[in-house]
Amino acid sequence: MSIPRIYVEDVAQYLDQEVELRGWLYNLRSSGKILFLQVRDGSATIQCVILKNRVPAEVFIAAASLTQESSLIVRGHVQADQRSTLGYELQVTSLEVLHVAEPYPISPKEHGVAFLMDHRHLWLRSTRQVALMKIRTIVVTAIREFFETRSFVLVDAPMFTPAACEGTTTLFEVDYFGDKAYLTQSGQLYMEAAAAALGKVYCFGPVFRAEKSKTRRHLTEFWMVEPEVAFIGLDEDMQLAEDFLCHVVRRVLERGRSYLQMLERDPARLEQVLPPFPRISYTEAVERLHAAGRDFTWGEDFGAEDETILANQFDRPVIVHRYPLQCKAFYMKEDPLDARLALCMDVLAPEGYGEIIGGGQREDSLAVLESKIEQHALPREAFEWFLDLRRYGTFPHAGFGLGLERTITWLCGLHHLRETIPFPRMLERVRP
Ligand code: 4AD
Ligand code: MG
Repeated sequence: MSIPRIYVEDVAQYLDQEVELRGWLYNLRSSGKILFLQVRDGSATIQCVILKNRVPAEVFIAAASLTQESSLIVRGHVQADQRSTLGYELQVTSLEVLHVAEPYPISPKEHGVAFLMDHRHLWLRSTRQVALMKIRTIVVTAIREFFETRSFVLVDAPMFTPAACEGTTTLFEVDYFGDKAYLTQSGQLYMEAAAAALGKVYCFGPVFRAEKSKTRRHLTEFWMVEPEVAFIGLDEDMQLAEDFLCHVVRRVLERGRSYLQMLERDPARLEQVLPPFPRISYTEAVERLHAAGRDFTWGEDFGAEDETILANQFDRPVIVHRYPLQCKAFYMKEDPLDARLALCMDVLAPEGYGEIIGGGQREDSLAVLESKIEQHALPREAFEWFLDLRRYGTFPHAGFGLGLERTITWLCGLHHLRETIPFPRMLERVRP
């Protein structure tokens, strides 16, 4: 019978059987006649034990001088081992070395962030980074699952666009065969078109913003999921955001506990994320800031510090609605009860992680939207197609965008969002 080639995460199904693993050496320890190899294969890490008297002499000698990250094919018997976190180890019967790695630049000692970022292609192999990528996969899967089960249609938005969605100061301009084009800041305007075709839609992809400041919350390329729904208003939009976030958090708790543990993230903080989320108006939020002794002028947008003060007053995400129109994008619908306000909302994550969702109801009047485009000094010609949506069966509609990396940063309790995306792009960082 041939020896099954398996992944480390599946070893429990092969107790006392001989299996074949393929992976990389993470660590090697020797105690005379025994070698302990930590071998990782992407799914998990397992201790492989080589006894001197059980393998040919040349195999033992070769194994003893292996370097970190050497690639291997190892065969052996799966045995229970209560001391290891995996619960199993491998008693090696044979070892084939595919490549003896050169001295590896990332050692267990502490490295500076700049060094690690320069070696991101290698840094990704470390246990912590692997855990983060697994959580990212769990979050992405949960996002798709949520919209699939609610019968949203996935509509991919273009990356090259003729105009700004979120303000002209953060546009990346590209030369498009002699014409100017921009990398997309948000798929929203296209989702509004798609909502008129399909009712409930969402897009999920990378977006680009030329963020010229270095902060722990900003990337220049990040992933955003953007649902858009026909015939709903702000209240239903807030409800959708709440249901959506609760689903994502629940899935992370169900499927990602071992990774949260590797990241030393206390799951109790996430277990508190239950409906209903508090909803407060912008004006109430400003009162809360004043009560907390903060100097803040009504009409401005909140800064990171303001968001932290507000979010710290709650044990779960808080929804802030009806910001002043003046600090928001051109497409926001005016509140019919107060012309100073927009029917919009932001969701602020707890523990000082700030805004993770922004959205609201869209302006659906042709005349109002035309004047907003003018007020915001946007090029009318580039928005003609968007105005068509108000000419041919205009309809109330709302949606939002959730930033994937900011959400993972909060879920994992990280200080900075750079580790939540495989290859971060930031001011002064386009390599590797
Ligand atoms: O609030 P924003 O700018 O909203 C929009 O783009 C809307 N058009 C979305 C919509 O209604 N369809 O961005 C949405 C979210 C923010 O809440 C934040 O989580 C994230 O995108 N985000 C960033 N994440 C990382 N780096 C940046 N530079 C980000 N800018 C926004
Ligand atoms: Mg926003």
